[in-house]
Amino acid sequence: MDKILVLDFGGQYNQLIARRVRAEHVYAEIKPFNKITPLEIKEEGYKGIIFTGGPNSVYDPSSPHYDPAVLDLGIPILGICYGAQLIAWMAGGEIASAEMGSEYGKITLYTSNNILFDGIPSESICWMSHNDFIKTPPEGFSVIAHTDKCPCAAMCDESRKLYGVQFHPEVTHTVYGKQMLRNFIFSICGCKADWKAENFVENSIEYYKARLAGKKVLLALSGGVDSSVAAVLLNRAIGENLICVFVDHGLLRKGEGDYVENTLGRQFGINLIRVNAEERFLSKLSGVIDPEKKRKIIGEEFIRVFEDEAKKLGKIDVLVQGTIYPDVIESGKGDSAVIKSHHNVGGLPDVIAFEEIVEPLRDLFKDEVRQVGIQLGIPHELVWRQPFPGPGLAVRIIGEVTKEKLDILRESDAIFREEIVKAGLENAASQYFAVLTNLQSVGVMGDARTYGYTIALRAVTTDDFMTAEWTRLPHDVLEKASSRITNEIKGINRVVYDITSKPPATVEWE
Ligand code: XMP
Repeated sequence: MDKILVLDFGGQYNQLIARRVRAEHVYAEIKPFNKITPLEIKEEGYKGIIFTGGPNSVYDPSSPHYDPAVLDLGIPILGICYGAQLIAWMAGGEIASAEMGSEYGKITLYTSNNILFDGIPSESICWMSHNDFIKTPPEGFSVIAHTDKCPCAAMCDESRKLYGVQFHPEVTHTVYGKQMLRNFIFSICGCKADWKAENFVENSIEYYKARLAGKKVLLALSGGVDSSVAAVLLNRAIGENLICVFVDHGLLRKGEGDYVENTLGRQFGINLIRVNAEERFLSKLSGVIDPEKKRKIIGEEFIRVFEDEAKKLGKIDVLVQGTIYPDVIESGKGDSAVIKSHHNVGGLPDVIAFEEIVEPLRDLFKDEVRQVGIQLGIPHELVWRQPFPGPGLAVRIIGEVTKEKLDILRESDAIFREEIVKAGLENAASQYFAVLTNLQSVGVMGDARTYGYTIALRAVTTDDFMTAEWTRLPHDVLEKASSRITNEIKGINRVVYDITSKPPATVEWE
């Protein structure tokens, strides 16, 4: 399988670059610049390298630099923004930083005839975001694009297949960016488009069959997409030797525990142990109102329950985690502010004796995990499930979590979701759910005063959940949900719709 290395210099679009390459069915891996040497790049057999952008200036001694030997590996390189300046700097060119040089936003790009720009008009729009620029390209390089302000918006040394672009071809604002990346990976690097979910499934099954032969393998199943896909994949590879422990913390949505058990346990014949631990979790959560405390308690207890089950099974050789690529990146960063502690990241049992950890999906993005799931024959509704937080409904109940509140929320949420499905709007929002606010207010029912809880309905539209818009659901759907919730559920006398985007709010309320 041909693969491209995305060498990360701290750019904000590094994931996007890998995504774009993989959308062309060429496998791309992101590696931080300080975690791989030119020799290792050579040995890994990459067909091409993309240097990402980064926030620094090459002349700053603390900025990320790289061994110039990479330029002589004979492997094509495309440098983007800082990556382009770095190539120029390493090869002896001159970088300048001037007020005049900085550009931000959509800029007209003038390109010359070059393999990188095949199929692209000589004048098009690109996305720029830089202060520094390449003032003098290194010897052997020629300028192949410019803008009104930037004398060298792209350069190349065709004989060494080294390319640098000051703009960002990976963002959609660069109108022909996709075509430029295609030109790089196919025409310049000569990659074959052979990264497909079916190949991934076949290769992984073969690989784990051999690697895990005769081993006892344990997987913590949450019922979410990632761990379900990992479970089915490994079940296909090693069958009975895979034991899945499904910890039902009692904070799942209506009918969810049974659905997971039936689908994965019965339908797929996975060796599955369901642990009903509702009481255990509720007693730990009793009296707790702080959202971060709730998250920590649930994450911790999840591991303790899992450990207790594992101990009963005796010695385990391998532990499987359903970690996917964005988890690896997010948990690896460490220096960004903690907004919420995502409970499925990084929490590992520390008293189970096992020899190694296997993460079969660690290189995949969410959409790729879904493709793999479909390829494995997992039902569409499981694979396309909306995201559900690890701490479950506990972070959708503001204030203390009790069994009574959980039941109220479960029913309200089920009604809201049912009405959305009935209206054929499942694809109109990326995520939709109910929240039980801790607010009680006065209402009237029949001739009597009521004093009940307020349910908030939330629906958001987003690509990546980093930012999100509130979804403009039709009023009649909201009206139907509101009227059913207040009529059918005791204890609720008011329903509101959350019209806040992220930021400033987050998707979940806690
Ligand atoms: P926020 O609330 O941070 O949510 O805007 C962004 C997305 O992440 C989901 N979410 C979680 N997912 N474990 C998860 O697996 C968690 O602890 C967790 N907390 C939030 C949330 O549902 C939304 O899709």
